[in-house]
Order: sequence, then C-alpha cells, then structure tokens
Amino acid sequence: MSLVRVENLGKSYNAQTKVLKDVSFNVEAGEFVSIIGPSGAGKSTLLRCINRMVEIDEGNVVFDGQDVGSLNKKELRKMRTNIGMIFQHYNLVPRLSVIENVLHGRFGYKTTLEGILGKFTEDEKEQAFYLLKKLGIEDHAYKRCDQLSGGQQQRVGIARALIQDPKIVLCDEPIASLDPNASKVIMDYLKSITMELNITCIVNLHQVEIARDYSDRIIGLSKGGIVFDGSSYKLTTDSTDLIYGTTTPKVQKRQLVTV
Ligand SMILES: Nc1ncnc2c1ncn2[C@@H]1O[C@H](COP(=O)(O)OP(=O)(O)O)[C@@H](O)[C@H]1O
Ligand SMILES: [Mg+2]
Repeated sequence: MSLVRVENLGKSYNAQTKVLKDVSFNVEAGEFVSIIGPSGAGKSTLLRCINRMVEIDEGNVVFDGQDVGSLNKKELRKMRTNIGMIFQHYNLVPRLSVIENVLHGRFGYKTTLEGILGKFTEDEKEQAFYLLKKLGIEDHAYKRCDQLSGGQQQRVGIARALIQDPKIVLCDEPIASLDPNASKVIMDYLKSITMELNITCIVNLHQVEIARDYSDRIIGLSKGGIVFDGSSYKLTTDSTDLIYGTTTPKVQKRQLVTV
C-alpha cells in the first residue's frame, strides 16, 4: 500500500482559476520525491492538500490508508502528528531557544495545557538533543533562534519536524532562502537523516539540478497539472522545457511524459 495516494485532485481558491487539475500520483514509503515547477504551478497548494492545510475540492488524498478529506478535527490532528512540515522561512519562534523550538514539534501529542506549560518528558528532551547532535547544532541548543544563520535555523526546522516521529516530511522550498553552500548542507542532512530514520520525503524545489541530485523521483508540475513523473535520471531537457513552459508552440500542449 502506498503511503500517499493522490487521486484526481482538483483545487481552486476562487471561481476563476483552477490551481490543481486532475493530479494523480502515489508515493511509496521510503521514497524521496521532488516536486518541481515554476512559481505559481501549484507546488505549495499540492503539499497543503496532503495534510489538509487547505481543503480538497475534487478527488482524494489518501495518507497511510486514511481518506484525508473525510477526517474530522480530532482525526486530522492525529494524522498530522505523522506528517512533519519544513518551510522556506523556517517558521520558528525567533525569541525562543533552539531546544524550545525543537520541542514544539511534540505539541501535536499534548493537551493545550501541557503545551502552554511546556511540559516535556525526559525522553522528549533526550530525543531533541539527539536530533540536534545529528544535525550538528547541539552547541546552539540554548541560543535564541534569531541568533542563528539561515542554514542553522533550517536545521532546527528539520529537528522540529523529526521529533514528531513522522512517517513523512513535506518540505516546501526548504532552501529557497539559503545560499548555495547552506543549501547543500540542508539537502545533505535532509537526505541522510530521512534515509537513516526511514522517513518518506516530498520536497518542493525550484532548482532542477538539486532535485536531480538528491531525489529518487521527480514530479514536474506545470499550471496545476503533472507533466513529468519519473526517475530523476530520466528528466531530459525536453521534460524540463515542458515543465517550465519553454517549449515551442507545437509541443506546448500539455502532455504527460511517463517514464
Ligand atoms: N491562499 C490562496 N488564495 C488564493 N490564491 C492562491 C492562494 N495560494 C495560492 N494561490 C494561487 O494558486 C496558484 C498556485 O500557487 P502555489 O501553490 O503557491 O504555487 P507554487 O508553490 O508552485 O508557486 C497561484 O496562482 C497562486 O497565486
Ligand atoms: Mg510555493
């Protein structure tokens, strides 16, 4: 059974434009998949449909055997503990320490009061330090997050997602705010740590080369539809032309390249 099944997914934010059109694909447990495409293609919307940060209009998303669209609030909260999120702008609390931010990843397992009081078990704290160590930032554990570089802050973001003990991490442009060196560090960590912990990973990226270097498989989105879905090494110039809309008019018509 696939960990994620997206079936004929359609999404609009308003009556004029359909942002996702008939999107279907499966992601197997353990896969590292990149979603690429130009700005506005629908990459963020697609990720948000998977954990239902936005409502699904048409079709289905099935995560770990559960129909995401039909879950009630409580079931959705439980499902989301299995989905770690990593964002372009890290979404940390800047004035709080690194360790506090990492422990926020456990909020999904707590009552509101436990969360407010910051009640964490010894196991949770140990796990937080373990992850910070793995990510090479344990020396910064007690620093405020706003004192860290962008790359270090994103490592905090990764630790916060992983302490959830998720089955999957969804990363929305995790390196878009970083310089090339920091980007490489983040992608290396993301790849190695998800492999080691056997966590499935879907990463939205706009850099084709990075997608090719790091992922098993690439999904190319153009104007809300899938125009490429296949192994990274099979992504040709023709496919990237199709994804980024740089083809000649004759072949500009959207066509699915399956390899
Ligand atoms: N909350 C929203 N309300 C209205 N339109 C939105 C919203 N979020 C995204 N869009 C529109 O949906 C389209 C796809 O956006 P998005 O999913 O952010 O694409 P990408 O991540 O590939 O840049 C864009 O045209 C964008 O303007
Ligand atoms: Mg986006």
